[in-house]
Amino acid sequence: MTPQPPAATPVFAAAHVSRNERLSSFFGRIALACGEPFAAAEPGQFVMLRRPETLDPFLSRPYSIHATWFREGRFGGIEILYKVVGPATRRLSLLRPGDEVRLLGPLGRGFRLPPGVRRLFLAAGGVGIAPFRFLVERLAPQGGPPAMDCRLFFGVRTAEELVCAAGIAARGVPVVPTTDDGSAGAHCPVTDPLAAAVEADPPDLLLACGPRAMLACVADLARRRGIPCQVSLEERMACGLGACLGCAVPGRGGPSRYRHACLEGPVFALEDIEL
Ligand SMILES: Cc1cc2nc3c(=O)[nH]c(=O)nc-3n(C[C@H](O)[C@H](O)[C@H](O)COP(=O)(O)OP(=O)(O)OC[C@H]3O[C@@H](n4cnc5c(N)ncnc54)[C@H](O)[C@@H]3O)c2cc1C
Ligand code: FES
Repeated sequence: MTPQPPAATPVFAAAHVSRNERLSSFFGRIALACGEPFAAAEPGQFVMLRRPETLDPFLSRPYSIHATWFREGRFGGIEILYKVVGPATRRLSLLRPGDEVRLLGPLGRGFRLPPGVRRLFLAAGGVGIAPFRFLVERLAPQGGPPAMDCRLFFGVRTAEELVCAAGIAARGVPVVPTTDDGSAGAHCPVTDPLAAAVEADPPDLLLACGPRAMLACVADLARRRGIPCQVSLEERMACGLGACLGCAVPGRGGPSRYRHACLEGPVFALEDIEL
């Protein structure tokens, strides 16, 4: 098993909506005001979120930390990018400034950049873009371009789902978009231009977040070319704390065959899991 850095201690906390904006038909971004423990969050970590007063849905849902925000130089809270797919994300889309939510986090293990990475490829599918804005901001905290050659391959169903692409490109990270319907970028799976770029000049590290089928293609490419790769798994999660075993994924190596995506992930080095 790849050595893991210590994670920030998670806390249960109340948070208040500071802003909630619609980005497209199904995507939105919500800013939550929350306490200092969330300032220690790392890109790739997530929170479990629920409304305090409702039992519908009963279980909290996991969301990647999309960004941290500051006001007058002080930590203000976190942002979440969401895609409306069911009851919890629909309720999230209806929240207004001042509404309260309950957070548990920061949770899990995020992306790990070993020293010496000079060429970094990011591959995102759909709402799998969520953790990469945070990562790109951390790569260049002063707002300039990252010190390394970093590029993003971003696949979505249709043009309006290319949320965050302009903001990431503005930070000096070239974005290669693809769409399922050909309405923007290349009309193909995101793994097509990714594979071409890998063949032309392989990166030192490949990070991916998106649907399972996309991650399986990325994993296949990385294994064939021997490129170090980390993937963020969007497993279904109930507790986020390692108690319910709902997020178990088949692992490789180590004493236990199964890994908890909520504790040992959601970001895994490819050699640690079956994919
Ligand atoms: C670590 C992690 C980070 C995540 N980050 C984000 C994020 O930043 N933004 C975001 O919008 N979503 C994110 N998700 C996914 C989100 O938690 C789920 O989509 C959630 O279930 C939505 O709740 P819901 O009640 O709206 O829909 P549900 O009723 O729970 O689900 C609606 C439909 O989506 C399917 N579905 C739900 N979750 C998954 C899954 N993990 N894999 C495959 N199918 C699924 C269900 O089977 C159902 O058909 C993340 C998940 C994980 C594990
Ligand atoms: S979500 Fe319960 S053990 Fe991981």
